Amino acid sequence: MLIVTSVAAMQRLAAKLKVQQVRVGFVPTMGYLHAGHLSLVQRARQQIGEKGQVVVSIFVNPTQFAPHEDLSKYPRDLARDKKLCRAAGVDILFIPKDAAIYPPDFSTYIVEERLSRGMEGESRPTHFRGVTTVVGKLFNLVRPDVAVFGAKDFQQGTVIQAMVRDLNFPLKIVIAPIMREADGLAMSSRNKYLSAIQREQATVLSRAIQVAKATLKNGPISSKKLEAQIRKMVSQQSEARLDYVRIFDPQTLEPVSEVKRGTHLALAVFFGKTRLIDNGRL
Ligand code: PAJ
Repeated sequence: MLIVTSVAAMQRLAAKLKVQQVRVGFVPTMGYLHAGHLSLVQRARQQIGEKGQVVVSIFVNPTQFAPHEDLSKYPRDLARDKKLCRAAGVDILFIPKDAAIYPPDFSTYIVEERLSRGMEGESRPTHFRGVTTVVGKLFNLVRPDVAVFGAKDFQQGTVIQAMVRDLNFPLKIVIAPIMREADGLAMSSRNKYLSAIQREQATVLSRAIQVAKATLKNGPISSKKLEAQIRKMVSQQSEARLDYVRIFDPQTLEPVSEVKRGTHLALAVFFGKTRLIDNGRL
């Protein structure tokens, strides 16, 4: 596995792979890797084949964190991440420095203005500007044929797909399913912050999605009613504070009044300072 830490070296390598017509599959991450991230690596390999090169980036992107958020406390363990990437068959691990991605005179951002407004965008107003900017930059540096994102961050995947279409990035986006712990909790680097009791109660997110699916099986239901039911479920957990629950069309991300099959549900819940998200198709 090749470890690349300079932006110029990554650009040279990407240019070389283009000339050699080697297919490149790309998985951008913020590190502290878990089985969810590694499932994206496998998916990238399937997409480009054994002769292709799988690139993983690790970059804790400062522009997608608000000043009061957990940037400085975001978990990091590069030694472990390197081992996991090696074992997963990653070919190139790109770990750029903050100052190389954002030099002091940096002043250009990518802003998606429709899909990024609601849900995560409402709770974290500058978040998606940071995500689209860094992902756009990483696409320019790595020049992948395919990039793989997780359905865990459903809105992020939708926003990236729009960015790629709107700005003509020459690559395919693949969205891979959510990897979960045995009790249903969606894997996340942030789960490590949960206390024992919070960890127990954190299954309320995936349980809410299951309950929604089961409720829908009994016939159509209004979004208001279902949202109220989920609000109640979350409020019954002593450590949980609901940020939002939203029922929406998965293409437009617009709220819908009637829940039908194929409608999407997303929720965000605080446990202390830790904010967890989950979503699912109903
Ligand atoms: P990060 O949270 O590290 O996630 C990297 C990728 O892993 C994202 O595509 C995310 O959706 C996916 N992922 C996380 N948990 C998952 C799970 N349980 N199952 C499946 N996939 C999962 O998302 C980011 O980083 C950043 O916003 C980034 C895109 C790297 C831009 O900075």
